[in-house]
Amino acid sequence: MSLEAIKFDEKRATLRILNQLLVPYETQYLAVDAIAPVEGIDLFSGYTAIKGMYTRGAPAIMLVGCFSVVVELNRVLNENETRFGYDVADLARFKSRLLDRISVLIQSRPTAVNLLNGCNEMRQIIDASTSTTSLYTDLLQFAVKLYKDDLKSNHAIGANGVEYIYSELEKEGFTGEFSVMTICNTGSLATSGYGTALGIIRALHQEAQHRATKMAHVYACETRPYNQGSRLTAYELQYEKIPFSLITDNMVSFLVDSLAKNKANRSLPSAAPIKFIIVGADRIVKNGDLANKIGTFQLSLIASLYPSIKFIGAAPTTTIDFTRSTGDEIVIEQRPKKELTQIMGGVVGPDGAFVHGNNGVQMQKISMAPVGIDVWNPSFDVTPHDKIDAIVTEKKFFTKTNGSYTFE
Ligand code: MRU
Repeated sequence: MSLEAIKFDEKRATLRILNQLLVPYETQYLAVDAIAPVEGIDLFSGYTAIKGMYTRGAPAIMLVGCFSVVVELNRVLNENETRFGYDVADLARFKSRLLDRISVLIQSRPTAVNLLNGCNEMRQIIDASTSTTSLYTDLLQFAVKLYKDDLKSNHAIGANGVEYIYSELEKEGFTGEFSVMTICNTGSLATSGYGTALGIIRALHQEAQHRATKMAHVYACETRPYNQGSRLTAYELQYEKIPFSLITDNMVSFLVDSLAKNKANRSLPSAAPIKFIIVGADRIVKNGDLANKIGTFQLSLIASLYPSIKFIGAAPTTTIDFTRSTGDEIVIEQRPKKELTQIMGGVVGPDGAFVHGNNGVQMQKISMAPVGIDVWNPSFDVTPHDKIDAIVTEKKFFTKTNGSYTFE
């Protein structure tokens, strides 16, 4: 099973993405052929990949979206694809068609701001272009740089997160082993590689090799209803050999409390208390309010009851929305009801392993609730900045001054 979510071939301008609907049961890469669907043509587009959750995680959404623009332009300009509705002979009409296609792409998922930020930069490049050739070359270079920058950012977030965490431990005079908790998937699968919140966890695990005060255990929340925690984060942690336990989202308070009070009679996986809850973000607005996977807000509330636990948001600056002032202005995506009432999984054989048929792992969809019921299924929630102790980006770790955040 691969941890590479996005494979872009710069020479051929082709894009393949890991089908995350099948992880961890099966490795399947899907070719992305266009920005968005085109009526009458059977193709798999960036829009469909993002909306259908084949690819997910704010930075990965941005990268797949921006690469899909390059893929479509390559097909139109270099492979003479005529069915996408572009007028290659008229630059103004060409640009207008491209901008329409990008506007559709942006609507694929509304909460994560990275795709919008990436597309806004692409719009500026398109505006400034004086030929279809320069437009294509500049967008290609931009998308490749975006990918490389994201990877660099992830590593810098890891380093800055470690710096914050050890400075807090030193301030408190804490020595020995500690645990951390995370939600959703913010690792290699959600980014160009390495990860944001999970990048910090990876970096902490490396630090643990040569420190006495160290992260000993990770608690990964299952992350209902889409189970990014149990399917994806658990897979990444296992792959990286980082000690962890999977918990369901409703075990958090009991776990935190049991560890804080060192309750020996609760079969705890590790005695190391939780000192940090580290989460990713889909959009951080000017005051530091942070939208992330549903369930994040309640983690911050629990952390706020324990002065010894710090709540950390981790994200590249492509996740910052400088146009919105508070979290109230963030649009929260509603996902389809069936994503809560049904679950897809690999069929398990008597030995506990997935059953393989002729065509890969046998998958089954299971219904978990009566058919036809009402369901509320917001994909994200908003954690107010006053519940966040630090926001770590690739630039540095930000803490509040007089109760508020300022991002340069
Ligand atoms: O619905 P998803 O799986 O796209 O949600 C992902 C998250 O909420 C992540 O925490 C966030 O995008 C940051 S990924 C580095």
